Amino acid sequence: MAYRYKSDLSFKDVSSEAIFLNRRQLCLGAGAMLSGNIWGQANGAVSSTLDEKPNSFEQITNYNNYYEFGTGKGDPAKYAGVLKTKPWSIKIDGLVDNPMTLSMLDLLKAMTIEERIYRFRCVEGWSMVIPWNGFELADLLNVVGVKSEAKYVSFETLLRPDEMWGQKRNYLEWPYREGLRLDEALNPLTILATGLYNKSLPNQNGAPVRLVVPWKYGFKSIKSIVRITLMKEEPQTSWSTANPREYGFYSNVNPNVDHPRWSQATERRISTSFVAKRRPTLLFNGYEKEVSDLYQGMDLAKLY
Ligand code: MTE
Repeated sequence: MAYRYKSDLSFKDVSSEAIFLNRRQLCLGAGAMLSGNIWGQANGAVSSTLDEKPNSFEQITNYNNYYEFGTGKGDPAKYAGVLKTKPWSIKIDGLVDNPMTLSMLDLLKAMTIEERIYRFRCVEGWSMVIPWNGFELADLLNVVGVKSEAKYVSFETLLRPDEMWGQKRNYLEWPYREGLRLDEALNPLTILATGLYNKSLPNQNGAPVRLVVPWKYGFKSIKSIVRITLMKEEPQTSWSTANPREYGFYSNVNPNVDHPRWSQATERRISTSFVAKRRPTLLFNGYEKEVSDLYQGMDLAKLY
């Protein structure tokens, strides 16, 4: 890739909780490696303003969307614990030179885990700042080798209705599916997250591995991935299949393009304050410099 991403949000602002963590907890599996000095990862980046402080671990893990475990914000924290995440493997297939099935252990051995503190904006109008641990999706795609005909990447969540009771309801077609254009997938901002706050990813946040695409609405960031497929055509995705008028394939965060049922101009940062004011939503969730080139010449109101 042309550059590695430096966060504009600093790890300095992460609550003291992280500092008490045992470093051993950082090894999310045997062989997981950490790049450089974890606490100083974002050195040199513009430090964040006070109101961009990362949300607490409690907030990030108790206010979730994970419909496989119910539609209430507290449901995933309540019910996702039953999901068995060991053993786990990801199949990578389609238009790749070396199709493979990688165990979580293989994946963590092969990839360098780093931290990324990102804004996270849900299409529903709330937002958080989350200190993820993970690796660039591009690094994994380089390992398998992407064939030149590939133009899109499709992602699939585990299908296991016995553990994921929501999959017995038909509010979405299961398994949950998402997709990116290949250049979006290769952008250095796009990561597969395996942890947050330097702890293994909690089940409610998509253990053991989920996508994070910080300039897109949160539903693009698919959880508990078991399959990644390189394709020629735009893949079908769960939310745009369920309601194409309301949820497009691109779903870039955009304050100027409203959802048919509500404005996207502002957002509510999840906080402990009952009087928290709504804040303006930023184009591409504040990552315009890093991603606007991907959409040159595209009508973002039509390709929402
Ligand atoms: N992935 C799966 N498999 N199932 C889901 O219901 N919800 C999406 C996304 N990924 C979802 C999913 C939505 S709508 C959002 S906003 C984010 O996960 C929420 O991520 P969080 O709970 O870690 O904040």
